[in-house]
Formats: sequence, C-alpha cells, structure tokens
Amino acid sequence: MSKKVRRIGVMTSGGDSPGMNAAIRAVVRTCAYYHTDCVGFYRGFQGMINGESINLNARSVRNIVNQGGTILQSARSKEFLTEEGRAKAAKNLKDAEIDAMILIGGDGTFRGGQVFSKEHGIPVIGVPGTIDNDIYGTHYTIGYDTALNTVVEAIDKIRDTASSHNRLFFVEVMGRDAGFIALNSGIGAGAEEILIPEEDLGLERLLDSLERSRRAGKTSSIVVVSEGDKIGKNVFELADYVKKHLPYYDARVTVLGHIQRGGRPSCFDRVLASRLSVKAVELLLDGKKDLMVGMLNNEMESCSLDQALKGKHNINKDLLRISEILST
Ligand code: F6P
Repeated sequence: MSKKVRRIGVMTSGGDSPGMNAAIRAVVRTCAYYHTDCVGFYRGFQGMINGESINLNARSVRNIVNQGGTILQSARSKEFLTEEGRAKAAKNLKDAEIDAMILIGGDGTFRGGQVFSKEHGIPVIGVPGTIDNDIYGTHYTIGYDTALNTVVEAIDKIRDTASSHNRLFFVEVMGRDAGFIALNSGIGAGAEEILIPEEDLGLERLLDSLERSRRAGKTSSIVVVSEGDKIGKNVFELADYVKKHLPYYDARVTVLGHIQRGGRPSCFDRVLASRLSVKAVELLLDGKKDLMVGMLNNEMESCSLDQALKGKHNINKDLLRISEILST
C-alpha cells in the first residue's frame, strides 16, 4: 500500500501561462479543505534543487485567481537534467517531509517529473499549463484560451492599420512546435492565410493565394505565422520572399512574442485551472501517482505521464479548410 499523503509540494515550471496562479490557489485550497499541508517551491525544479520553499495556507493565495504570471515563479532548470541535480531535489523534498508533488507546466516539466519519480519514488501529478495547447490527454491547457484572446485583440489592432495603409501583415505568434494558437487565432481574427508547422502548404501556394486575394479586390491582408512553421526560415525572410515575388504588396512584420504569455487569465482558464488542480490533489490523496490530469469533452480525466508524453495532441485539420473557405 502506498504511503499516506500528508504534505504536498507544488511548483510551476517551463514557460509561464495565464491561469497558473488560479491552479496554485486551487491546489493550496484543496489541500486546506482536506487538512493536508501544502508547500510551494519557487522557480520549478530549480527551487526544489535549491530548497527554496514556502508553507502555503488558504490565506496565502488570496486575490491571485485573477493574476497573470505565477507567484511561485518559473524556470527551465538545466541542473535538473542531471542525476546529481535530481538527487539534490529529492533530498530537499525528503528533508521537508514532502510526500508528493504537483507539477504545473508543459511536456518538459512532465518529462522531468517522470524521471524524478522513477528515480526517487516520490509520486507526482502533472497539471497541464502552457499557452501552446500541445499536450496529449487534454483538449485544453491552462493559458491557451487567454493567449488566443490576447492574439486576437492584437491582430484586430493590426488589421486597423493594415486596412488604413492597404498593407499585407505577417503576424508571428507563439507555439514552438504546434499550430494551435496560429490556427484558432487566425480564424478568430479573420486572417487570409494561416501557416502552421503541422501542414506545409509551400511558398508557391502562399503566393497564389495572396495573388488571388488581390484579384478578388482585397486591399489589405493578414497572414498569421506560427513560430514553428517551416515554410520560410523565419517570418522576416518569409515577408522578404513575398515582397520579392509580389512587389505590389507593401508588407510588414509583427512578432507578438511574450505578450502572449502575460495578462489576466480568461474565465475559461481560471475554471479549467481550478478543476484540474482540485482533481490533481484528490488523485494524490487517493494514492494515485505519475498521472497527468486533463479535460476531455468537458470532463476531468487523467492519463499516465507516459501516455501524455508519448501521445500527440493533433490539431483539427478541418479548421484549415474552414479558414480557406472564409478567406475567399
Ligand atoms: O512553451 C511555451 C512557449 O511560450 C513557446 O510557445 C515558445 O516557443 C517558448 O515558450 C518561449 O520560451 P522562452 O520564454 O524561454 O523564450
């Protein structure tokens, strides 16, 4: 029988995402509800290695449900990739009498957590928090919805100036290897073209499409480009290529960058973070370990960390077809 869980650690790791604070709050309050101690570790795995922690009670997390960023801060720890680093973290957790950890982050976080749990026998549960939405086992990750709204708002503004000047804009959005942000924000903002890593449409097709738009009487256009897209080397080179081949276009580039990671979480992300985190604590108290919680068809589910890491969350390719129809 597994050891009873009396003291749970929580941390946030990897790229921060809006709603991580709502997740921390829900972990802490659920622990309080079940009379379980909760300890926060700063800067993800690095704080576990350095033993930087804080005891958290229900009042420690007041007024953070609406805040962007993460009160526990985040990091991508290189030291945790080493056996020695992980051993230091395990020693600190044992000294602090931590029975289990909740890891809020993306695939890098879960990979680290899985190795750590195997090596040191400390149960972990992953809560998916990343704006990229690229995690298998959940239809939505914490922060994705807020990031989409941030991007759509920014593109709406770009469209104003694009149409005032009859310009073509290339807008680069985040999503290291995944096109979720580009695809959905592109449809939401009415982009003429959407370029994502999952579907290489080719440069010729892009030129054809832009020419068609012009012939159809469009005077300005928006092309949303996912940062992971491979069609051009980068968005600036892509814009140069188009300018060279279609010189009548007055093209500009906007890279939205890290504004996509900030801001107040949307209601959707707050509710998602709350539901996932309550489930994560309950699973640990129930003796479960090495799982990731997720939301599938609006239900709270869980899968093994192994499945979450090996599986692929596929984009809905029908959205590309819809985008093509709507940009006629
Ligand atoms: O994983 C989330 C993410 O925002 C990616 O979309 C992006 O490529 C990356 O993080 C940027 O990371 P950093 O903040 O370390 O530059």
